[in-house]
Amino acid sequence: MVQKIHSYKKYKEDYQESVEDPGKFWGKIAESFLWRKKWDTVLESDMANADVKWFQGGKLNITENCLDRHLEKNGNKTAIIWEPNNPDEESRYITYRQLYVKVSRFANVLKNNGVKKGDRVCLYMPMIPELSIAMLACARIGAIHSIVFAGFSSTALSSRINDSQCKLLITANEVYRGTKPINLKAVCDEALENTPSIEKVIVYRRTVEPTQMKEGRDSFWFEELQKIENFECEAEEMDAEDPLFILYTSGSTGKPKGMVHSTGGYMVGSTYSFQNVFQYQKDDIYWCTADIGWITGHSYIIYGPLAAGATTVMFEGVPSYPDYGRFWEIVEKLKVTHFYTAPTAIRALAKHPLSLVEKYDLSSLKVLGSVGEPINEEAWHWYNDNIGKGTCPIVDTWWQTETGAIMISPLAGVTPLRPTFATMPLPGVQPALMDEHGKEITESPAEGRLAMKAPWPSIARTIYGDHQRYKDTYFSAYSGMYFTGDGAYRDAMGNYRITGRVDDVVIVSGHNLGTAPIENAVDEHDAVVECAVVGFPHDIKGNALYAYVTKYDEVRISDDELRVEINKLIASSIGAIAKLDKIQFVSGLPKTRSGKIMRRILRKIASNDTSNLGDTSTLLNPEVVEEIMEKSLV
Ligand code: PRX
Repeated sequence: MVQKIHSYKKYKEDYQESVEDPGKFWGKIAESFLWRKKWDTVLESDMANADVKWFQGGKLNITENCLDRHLEKNGNKTAIIWEPNNPDEESRYITYRQLYVKVSRFANVLKNNGVKKGDRVCLYMPMIPELSIAMLACARIGAIHSIVFAGFSSTALSSRINDSQCKLLITANEVYRGTKPINLKAVCDEALENTPSIEKVIVYRRTVEPTQMKEGRDSFWFEELQKIENFECEAEEMDAEDPLFILYTSGSTGKPKGMVHSTGGYMVGSTYSFQNVFQYQKDDIYWCTADIGWITGHSYIIYGPLAAGATTVMFEGVPSYPDYGRFWEIVEKLKVTHFYTAPTAIRALAKHPLSLVEKYDLSSLKVLGSVGEPINEEAWHWYNDNIGKGTCPIVDTWWQTETGAIMISPLAGVTPLRPTFATMPLPGVQPALMDEHGKEITESPAEGRLAMKAPWPSIARTIYGDHQRYKDTYFSAYSGMYFTGDGAYRDAMGNYRITGRVDDVVIVSGHNLGTAPIENAVDEHDAVVECAVVGFPHDIKGNALYAYVTKYDEVRISDDELRVEINKLIASSIGAIAKLDKIQFVSGLPKTRSGKIMRRILRKIASNDTSNLGDTSTLLNPEVVEEIMEKSLV
């Protein structure tokens, strides 16, 4: 097992060693995993060319680390506790041994359907254990999973399937989230009209509703299992640098980026950070409320916890069903020790009566976590006082889909906390603050753009099919460094506070949304000439979306009807998560003389921060700024 850092002194020593000799440091960490063959070199890196390789020459299979190696001593330990959407339905407890058998058996299903090492398999599934089984089964045979969050629309699903040319799609017929039924299979059917690479679809029957199946293409999960007699599946031997999965994240320009994660480095990074940030102990019950469709679920519901031999909770439902006490009811029922969620959920829960918290016994809790967006002071204290009762350290974990693992965070009970600060980098992580001239700011306190000076094992290796874009997006801003796209403040002690995105990505309810694809969707409406979408602060969601739209003179419908139609277009091209909160119709958008929309000004107006709009002298049409402010919806 990965060695845990138990004291602040040890953290400082390890940090120092990781900077001075990353090869030695990570080599030692990697020793604690199961390798079929050890690596030849720990690290080969050329950041300027976006070329990073860890544990080259090493051979392994991540599922042998997540499953096989626990069997002898911990085969009967619960690996996954599944909590259904409906509290009247039974929870499911799956031991490591059972999970091993289910994964092996399903891996044989994949093989039976012609899936081979290196093939891409798309998973569009609800939060049910079969999602974990399917993802691990892919990893078992060396197929690359691409999980698409099941809230995405059919258009978003098909574009992701096409981008990585997935061969097989795994889904469920239908699922309930709260009281809302979601017909996943219908979304898939729509997407599949436009995805020539998909040969087969496997459908898990989550509800008893009748399901439309296409002859020759679709089959049910249980039928596929019945064809399998062999419950063992030899794990495919993978190179450390072989891709483990693709996960799409928004970019500041149109197309989503398929971030490719490696097998060896990702395993080491996700497990090491899990162990050290959360300080998980043998009998703890760890619960991360994220959806597996996001990186948080990949690294901290599945790979990190399972490689560490932990008991991980998977929740199908929503925090508001049957009421806003659901999270706490589950904590009491399962005696959860570690609870990891997003600030947006905390803010939503804090709006409801405290009696919904006080009704439950939360004394099992030891560590609280936060992820996905900056946590504001009020939410931090509410979480600390009412959930942690002032005794549970809050780990505010900063990281990204691209980083694969937590980068900046307290280590629970080991390093000091500072409310609203992600605090210090983990060993192996070397942050830098950059000024507007691209120079590193070495003094503190200071504020700047956050970059990384050295590679870490779980860094994404490329954007699927577009290495140039990977290089341009992350490695071109500052020579030899990785640029995060975030701004940060560093205090005199060296603690980091993330101030938010500095590009055209907006974090809405913890979801990373590029404004460009949303603008494209709005522009599709035939009444719309053009638009600009920006983020603005929102009480619960952290940020919400504001669109400034110019429309044609002759529009047959009212402004309110047009707003509804625009949001419908967004829901169908991206998903409901990207809907606009405010839509202001304007006579023009502020533009530079070269025709670029000045989003900076619109961002300020939408945030009601108009005291200093900055330099507007380069605008072609400064008069529209007045008009936009006058009719502002904030
Ligand atoms: O802006 C940062 C914000 O979320 C972005 C990454 O989003 P995504 O790739 O979807 O991954 C989310 C889960 C890791 C970052 O660039 N972010 C994430 N965690 C924090 C955060 N902002 C402030 N504090 C955090 N703890």
